[in-house]
Amino acid sequence: MQPAVVVTGASSGLGVEFAKLAAAEGARVVLIARSRPELDALAASIDPSGRLTVVLSLDLSSPDAGEVIVRELEALDLYCHILINNAGFGLFGDAVELDRQQQLGIIDVNVRAATDLMLRFLPGMVARRSGAVLNVGSVAGFAPGPRMAVYFASKAYLISISQGLRQEVRGAGVTVTCLCPGPVRTPFLARAGADRVALFKLLPKLDAADVARAGWNAMRAGHALCVPGISNKVSIALTRMMPRSLVLALVGYLQRARRRLA
Ligand SMILES: NC(=O)c1ccc[n+]([C@@H]2O[C@H](COP(=O)([O-])OP(=O)(O)OC[C@H]3O[C@@H](n4cnc5c(N)ncnc54)[C@H](OP(=O)(O)O)[C@@H]3O)[C@@H](O)[C@H]2O)c1
Repeated sequence: MQPAVVVTGASSGLGVEFAKLAAAEGARVVLIARSRPELDALAASIDPSGRLTVVLSLDLSSPDAGEVIVRELEALDLYCHILINNAGFGLFGDAVELDRQQQLGIIDVNVRAATDLMLRFLPGMVARRSGAVLNVGSVAGFAPGPRMAVYFASKAYLISISQGLRQEVRGAGVTVTCLCPGPVRTPFLARAGADRVALFKLLPKLDAADVARAGWNAMRAGHALCVPGISNKVSIALTRMMPRSLVLALVGYLQRARRRLA
């Protein structure tokens, strides 16, 4: 069997950059997202020979997505050596007003699918005593987030599980890293309806290529956490120093101050 880098959310934004980084190392890359044309175009650009890249167009919110991915890898004689849990989305608005199913979809993709893939692939990595997971969290995971409550909570979960699993597998030579970006220039904020929100306008937007490279390097170095950008590091440090009630009030204010600062 051949080792492969599995990248979820590879049709856009950070996922495209992770796929490029993996391909630049000559790895077999498995590209996963729903948008088939974007995945096919990326595969053609990073692997013109078509021998190293596999495209899996599927919806990670589907309960059988993990099973489908494992079956596809086995059929191709591949095993997951590096898992990049990058797929994710958010929704801006009060939870009581947003669609319930769409909000549950955030948990299905950001939390359930990411966990499912780790639980499926980590045992093999531990048995081989080699492998790495990179989970894409967010600075949002360090604070409660009124008006994006489910999204912020999903990222807090990813930070927590990354640290817990990392501790469990570290003796086996396997690493789990959590990349926690602030705002990045990708379609994410516009898709979430949050591109005009004050909280995300205060922090400078970083380039997707730079953020992905920082995360990739942190994963390669076996680091636990990667927060790209000074302003994001400072905002997390402040969040950790301030009482939770003050953080909540501040985030709540910034999430409401949309029109004034937009
Ligand atoms: N951009 C930011 O400001 C920012 C900040 C902090 C953290 N992040 C995190 O970074 C990660 C990547 O986001 P991005 O900024 O690159 O945003 P993006 O350009 O919107 O990319 C999101 C990716 O997730 C995939 N995805 C979403 N729902 C899916 C589903 N149901 N099934 C399969 N794939 C799905 C999308 O593919 P399809 O639509 O083709 O399925 C797309 O490839 C996310 O986890 C996000 O939470 C982003």
